Amino acid sequence: DDYQLGEFTDFMRKEMHEQPEAVHRALLGRLEERFATARLGGIGLDAHALRSVRRVKFLGCGSAYYAGQLGANLVEELARLPADAEPASEFRYRNPVVDPDTLYVAVSQSGETADTLAAVQELGRKGGRVIGVVNVVGSAIARECGSGVFLHAGPEVSVASTKAVTNMSVCFAMLALLLGRMRDLSVANGRRIVTALADLPARIAEVLAAEEEIAEAARRFGAARHMFFIGRVRGWPVAREGAQKLKEISYVHAEAYQAAELKHGPLALIDERMPSVVLVPDDDLLTKNIGTIEQIKARGGPVLAVSNAELPGGLADVVLRVPRTEPELDPILFAIPLQLFAYHLATHLGRDIDKPRNLAKSVTVE
Ligand code: G6P
Repeated sequence: DDYQLGEFTDFMRKEMHEQPEAVHRALLGRLEERFATARLGGIGLDAHALRSVRRVKFLGCGSAYYAGQLGANLVEELARLPADAEPASEFRYRNPVVDPDTLYVAVSQSGETADTLAAVQELGRKGGRVIGVVNVVGSAIARECGSGVFLHAGPEVSVASTKAVTNMSVCFAMLALLLGRMRDLSVANGRRIVTALADLPARIAEVLAAEEEIAEAARRFGAARHMFFIGRVRGWPVAREGAQKLKEISYVHAEAYQAAELKHGPLALIDERMPSVVLVPDDDLLTKNIGTIEQIKARGGPVLAVSNAELPGGLADVVLRVPRTEPELDPILFAIPLQLFAYHLATHLGRDIDKPRNLAKSVTVE
């Protein structure tokens, strides 16, 4: 109850601005510089148990599900373990095959989401190994899992989750690092990730400092009724979360799509009234993503590129610059401008940011 708005007019903006501090708390005492790994004492699995993991599956709802997808990518990249994410609501109803060599990760800010709790209970009945990645200490999911990683994001009031989602991604990066360093990931590569994680709060602060520029971009697209959010591989969960945020608080219809899939259908929707937000990290898929923008522009579609690369002049209508980190961690950073974009577009449209219609912060019933 002593969590107040202070200088802010709504909780979403306050919570976005708390992210450098929240990420700092998530990392505190968990980065092990010497052996270039992470220390996650709460997961309750010893080295033997961690080494026996053959697959990782993330379960969550809404933004926690998209964060899980980002986490699955990190586990595959850093630990070379097959990993995926599934909405907890689907998992609970489809009589899933529960595999003893899989590590299940239940993801939830509140720790009270009914669908996620039910998935954990189903895993319990079928003997699955499950850990929780949860913000609220003492919550139902945290208790049911019995072990896991707390997000330490602090209280989150805004229905649209920001700092909790960012901390989920950071915790998944640490989990992936830990699993990776028990397998193929070298000391040098582990250290690269440790250093970049420690540096993340400062990089996030840089994105937040560019808020006015992002707000201007959002106003520029303020008349759109539909938008695409385009990403590929690492950028795909970020695009999904970006579209989700825009839908939740602005009521503008947004659809996320994998860049290469555009040509298999949705390209038919592109015209001057259908803007696309395209994620363009400076990684080995850069030229592919530039090609995607060209395809959209050739059909008259306005493009907002979010990038940390030097893009050819005039390629996109607007470019939002993202600071550099290690490529594996790009998705964590790329998500921040999309939060601000959704926030400012919704503000521009006069929406009630903290109380979007038809939504609840935590859905504890079906
Ligand atoms: C609700 C909220 C979403 C949130 C989801 C999962 O639907 O509106 O913003 O992502 O629940 O919540 P959790 O507390 O489990 O992370």
